[in-house]
Amino acid sequence: AEEGDSAILTLPPWSTSLGQGVATRPYGLPSQYEKGLIRRESPGLTRVSGSSVAFTPLQGLFGIITPSGLHFERHHQGWQDIDPSRHRLMINGSDPSMVKRPKVYTMDDILRMPPVSRIHFIECGANTGMEWGNVAVPTVQYSHGMLSCSEFTGVPLRWILEDCGADLKKGKYILAEGADGSSMTRTIPMELVLSDEVLVAYGQNGEMLRPENGYPLRLVVPGVQGVSWVKWLRRIEVGDQPYATKDEAVHYIDLMPNGQHRQYSSIQEAKSVITSPSGGQMLLDKGFYNVTGLAWSGRGKVKKVDVSFDGGINWKEARLEGPIHSKALARFNIGWVWDGKPAILQSRVTDETGYVQPSYGQLRAVRGTKSIYHNNAIQSWKVAESGEVSNVQVL
Ligand code: MTE
Repeated sequence: AEEGDSAILTLPPWSTSLGQGVATRPYGLPSQYEKGLIRRESPGLTRVSGSSVAFTPLQGLFGIITPSGLHFERHHQGWQDIDPSRHRLMINGSDPSMVKRPKVYTMDDILRMPPVSRIHFIECGANTGMEWGNVAVPTVQYSHGMLSCSEFTGVPLRWILEDCGADLKKGKYILAEGADGSSMTRTIPMELVLSDEVLVAYGQNGEMLRPENGYPLRLVVPGVQGVSWVKWLRRIEVGDQPYATKDEAVHYIDLMPNGQHRQYSSIQEAKSVITSPSGGQMLLDKGFYNVTGLAWSGRGKVKKVDVSFDGGINWKEARLEGPIHSKALARFNIGWVWDGKPAILQSRVTDETGYVQPSYGQLRAVRGTKSIYHNNAIQSWKVAESGEVSNVQVL
């Protein structure tokens, strides 16, 4: 006769002993069995880790919210844990007519203002940047992991500018500056500020921002590439022209096929990726799989996601998990029965403006292959007969 499953027949220690008491860990941690799900640095990407990036493990996450401890990190000069009692936010004008009452705010001043909370994605402009010419990295963590999504809490920047008597008609741009050693400064068009979407944020997923993500204050600029989400925010200047700082004149520009650089292409166009099955994973057997992934658009809401199992010949609409938030990640799922033969899995998002995510062929026809930033091409994962999943490119 068949033996029974000992995991059922024998009582395990956790069923026969006293468990640990409350507040054994005053701040909770993931289970010891989840140790593999961590931020990872791509070796050799930069000379020092203080000016590098750690990628979010998208392959192991559910839903749309990134746990704060797994939020990707991108620092130009390392991260700091700033004493909030010593942190200040200064608002000034490029000339005295721009801001009538320039002010310096303490964290207490900002925390006393009425807050808003909103769910948004942040994606580094360089996400998927290594793949412009060809396949470069093995897993979705490295190909797409400069992407996270949180509920942010803070004060709309417009309210703070109004408090200082800023001239929101004459002021066409703002300059945001961080308090770290990188002199991170970015120009942001005033029209984004006037939409009330730009937040001076201190909250992330219900608690204060993590130091790595800008504690105690960062700018949230929904839909715009991550570099504009200035961390450790200490100053906002109101002006009437773009500032052309180093991080917008030399870096974060797009090299076009004609040799010219495109500047200020800040909006993250619609993009999607299948997170499981994805590169580096293994299908163990033929049969049913839930194919899942993420879709997002810097221009608003995700409208639909189509999935192909044959490298883009046939497409099927995936199920979107609601509610769908504007400029936030959206989770999609679709069932697939693998017949054991080689297959190529792809996802293609359409956003509410009608924009459709391009193939590599379509994107390269316009952008060439020499760029770093703003690669939103359709990602392909090849499933081999062995069940091994790998990164491939389909034009
Ligand atoms: N702000 C400051 N002050 N210093 C920085 O190095 N890096 C920028 C941006 N804001 C940076 C910064 C870049 S390039 C990105 S992609 C995002 O922060 C990353 O935010 P995260 O580290 O919270 O993921």
